[in-house]
Order: sequence, then C-alpha cells, then structure tokens
Amino acid sequence: MLIVRNLCASYPDGKAAINGVSLTIDDGERVALIGANGAGKSTLMRSIMGLMPAMSGSIEADGVTLTQNTAREIRKKVGIVFQNPDDQLFMTRVFDDVAFGPRNFGLPEDEVKEKVDSVLSQMNIVHLRDRVSDRLSSGEKRVAGIASVLVMRPATLLLDEPSSFLDPRARRTLIKTLLSLPHAMLIATHDLGFARRLCSRVIVLQNGQISAEGTPDEILGDEKKLEDYGL
Ligand SMILES: Nc1ncnc2c1ncn2[C@@H]1O[C@H](COP(=O)(O)OP(=O)(O)OP(=O)(O)O)[C@@H](O)[C@H]1O
Ligand SMILES: [Mg+2]
Repeated sequence: MLIVRNLCASYPDGKAAINGVSLTIDDGERVALIGANGAGKSTLMRSIMGLMPAMSGSIEADGVTLTQNTAREIRKKVGIVFQNPDDQLFMTRVFDDVAFGPRNFGLPEDEVKEKVDSVLSQMNIVHLRDRVSDRLSSGEKRVAGIASVLVMRPATLLLDEPSSFLDPRARRTLIKTLLSLPHAMLIATHDLGFARRLCSRVIVLQNGQISAEGTPDEILGDEKKLEDYGL
C-alpha cells in the first residue's frame, strides 16, 4: 500500500510543481493519473521516488516511510517507468539493462538470466535481448524500459505514459501484461482508453493539485468535465 500525505515539491528554480497532494493506493489497485501537459504528473511520480531536490510531506510504502536512509528500501518496493525511455536504459545491451536491477541486488548470475529471459518473453521482446539499447526505436526502448522495472517485481509500479510510442500490438501486449500483474499501479497517461481498460479509479491533477477523483465512468465519461480539467 502506498500512502502519500500532503506532498509538496519544487524545482531548483523555485517552481512549486506539486502543492499538497495526498493519495492512497491500495494493494493491487490500479489508479490512473490524468491531467494536462505540465499539470505535475511526472513531478508527482519523481517525488514519490524521492527524486526531487526540495519536497515536504510524507510517503509511505508498505509501512516504510521514505527518508534518506530508507530510499534504497523504498526503491525495492516501488518501481518507476520514466516518461522518457532514454532515462531508463543506460547499459549497452538490452539484456544488461534488464539485468541491472537483479544484479545490483546481488542475485546469482543464473537466477538473473532466468528472470531476464522470463520478463523479455512476457513482454514479447526476446528478439531484442542482445540489441544495443541506444539503437532501439522509441517503442522498443519503451518496452525494454518497462521490462527493466517489471523484472524487479516491485509491489507498486509508477508508470509515466507507458503506452506512448507503442504500436497497437505492443500496446495490447502491455495492457494484457499489466492486467495479469498483482501489483498496485499509478499510471500517468493521456491515453484515456488505456486508463479505462486498466484502472478502477482516476485521479485528475491540475496545477500540482488533485482537482477530481472518481471511477473511470465518473471522470472520463463526461467530455465537458474533461475540458474543464484542461483535457
Ligand atoms: N526540471 C525542471 N525545472 C523546472 N521546472 C520544471 C522541470 N521539470 C518540469 N518542470 C515544470 O513543472 C511543471 C510540471 O511538470 P511535469 O513534467 O510534472 O508535468 P506533466 O503533468 O508530467 O506533463 P506532461 O503531460 O507534459 O508529461 C511544469 O510547469 C513544468 O514546466
Ligand atoms: Mg509528464
């Protein structure tokens, strides 16, 4: 369970991008985070991971409160897929990118290999295993980046625009994969069909604050309201 209380976060230039956000995501719950460009979705996700230089409020994942001392422990419990796939991949080969987390946690190499191959197969990208990460297409990078997070099996996933760059088949595979996972998820997306397919609750962010929250029918079913939310 992820509990965020009264979170505020600002950038070094003084820009307050998150202004008092509180939310709870129950075990296994999938929640969509929608809002116009610049609403603060990515900043909120970065803040939950403790990646913002200036922040206040509290973040608790499975009973552990985020502090400098617990950041590593929290990152085992909460995984983030960044909006920009280039922020996710930094090794030479896709295999090594996906293996990075498991190796970092000291798993023996045969277990690493088993885990990596299993997640590559789950994501339908076995053919990318030995490719140079940097030379993949944006969609291929996206799926490889998601695999590098899923391989760690974090209890909670923060997915920032996971369906961007994906072709229809890769998008369907991703929906199927995410539906099959027991994890709690916060999914920032402009792909409202994707949100509807996956999420039982929708949170609307506007100017760094939650302006509405409800079921997909309540929030996504009313075009006039969506326009009011800047969408
Ligand atoms: N590094 C930065 N320094 C200063 N301001 C930033 C920085 N990154 C983002 N911002 C600002 O913070 C606000 C929130 O940005 P954020 O990227 O969180 O929005 P978003 O909801 O994820 O938008 P999008 O839908 O375009 O991904 C915006 O006004 C943005 O300009
Ligand atoms: Mg964003």
